[in-house]
Amino acid sequence: MRTKIVAGNWKMNKTFEEADNLIVEILDELDEKGKPDNVDVIICPPFVYLEMATDIAEESNILVGGQNVNENDSGAFTGEVSASMLQSMDVGYCIVGHSERRKYFSEDSTLLKLKVDALLSHEIRPIFCCGELLAEREAGHHFDVVRTQLEDSLFHLTPIQFLQVVIAYEPVWAIGTGVNASPGQAQEMHAFIRKLITGKYGEEIAGETSILYGGSCNARNAPELFAQDDVDGGLIGGASLKSEEFIQIIKSF
Ligand code: PGA
Repeated sequence: MRTKIVAGNWKMNKTFEEADNLIVEILDELDEKGKPDNVDVIICPPFVYLEMATDIAEESNILVGGQNVNENDSGAFTGEVSASMLQSMDVGYCIVGHSERRKYFSEDSTLLKLKVDALLSHEIRPIFCCGELLAEREAGHHFDVVRTQLEDSLFHLTPIQFLQVVIAYEPVWAIGTGVNASPGQAQEMHAFIRKLITGKYGEEIAGETSILYGGSCNARNAPELFAQDDVDGGLIGGASLKSEEFIQIIKSF
């Protein structure tokens, strides 16, 4: 069966000391209360804290991911970070296609496809984000938007490559707003995504693909969201910045 995953997207938050404390608190609480065996826990801190995170996480049962990657392998790209750098720091996952990157950094499907390729060529598993704007949902275009996002940036992959991808459905109107998708809305879209994957890669691969929900997911709404058949966990923003709440979400399955 597919892996259940709870991933924390810290975005651009925390000082070094606060980040250090948060990771230690998460590990202590997981030690104390026990991490469920069937859930992979991933934290995605800002780049500058990745070394600290991978050092601390090395001895633990949590995994570390980046929040972005440049599509090139090396070279004169001031301020950027490549997949080979992430790989050399034992970073196993990387968020790609987050709506904040699509919006504020003009990342489009063609670029995201290159980023996915760069990650896979360095054995880093992409956590690929997709999701519609409020206006797109209101116009009834949400399924088309998500289908196009997946087709344009992921469906060129071979079946073996695709098995490395984790998908995160994150309706843009739910991110950071306090208004989460209802469990029914999440299930409907996750089932649609799984059907698309079935059409492209077959039932077995679709059944193995973890599809996470993201957007104002918290300790209160996670149990019902995670109880949906096709919701395999969450990509958590704000609620991943507090250890107690993050642990509660991990224990929501
Ligand atoms: P949120 O963010 O949980 O703060 O809504 C989720 C995300 O952007 O990944």
